[in-house]
Amino acid sequence: MRYLIANWKSTKNVEDAFSWIVQFNHLLKQESSIQKKLNNDELKIIICPSFHLLTTVKAKIAKSKNIAIGAQDVSFFEQGNYTGEVSAQNLKDIIDYSIIGHSERRKYLKETDNMIDQKISILKDYSIEPILCVRDNKDLIPKDVRFIAYEPIYAIGTGKNESLTDVLNAKAKISHDRDTIFIYGGSVNSDNITEYSNAPEIKGFLVGNASKDPNSFIMMASRL
Ligand code: PGA
Repeated sequence: MRYLIANWKSTKNVEDAFSWIVQFNHLLKQESSIQKKLNNDELKIIICPSFHLLTTVKAKIAKSKNIAIGAQDVSFFEQGNYTGEVSAQNLKDIIDYSIIGHSERRKYLKETDNMIDQKISILKDYSIEPILCVRDNKDLIPKDVRFIAYEPIYAIGTGKNESLTDVLNAKAKISHDRDTIFIYGGSVNSDNITEYSNAPEIKGFLVGNASKDPNSFIMMASRL
């Protein structure tokens, strides 16, 4: 199974999301090879919009095996009087996955390993699968995290994707057990994705910029 994860970040309003979904559904219908991979458990697509779009995307996206919805973050409060926070308890019926510890949150929101650890343990309580982003082998990886997305900072949103050799070297240094699903993120696009997908160690891709356009996102899916 290969995972293709769209991280729209904070870029889309309701209208943008609608038009993305309409195009995505239309393109998917024409791509029997992608449909086959989804049906055969060879590919899973996880779409991670901002909170305000989760229910819209869930309702409108093509109903297919192995298309799932994820959040980009979750509160480290489980639930309660925390104005503005969106908790795992709020999200539990909507999402199956959540990105956690993205480097943009670590940088701009000052998220610490402790906060990330707390979020992961709450997500597990609600049976939501965390997709933990790490920048290098220094970021803490709590026990039992299945999805590790390695995203070197310099490669995020810059067009400077890391070479396959360096990604594999980083993988060797990041402590994880055998069942971990190792994902690479950082300027992945439809031109460079096959460079990585030929390496069986890389089980998936976390994609920012190139996921915002349904054409390039579908193109990436077709190349996996
Ligand atoms: P990028 O973003 O694909 O635009 O580099 C990846 C990410 O931030 O998850």
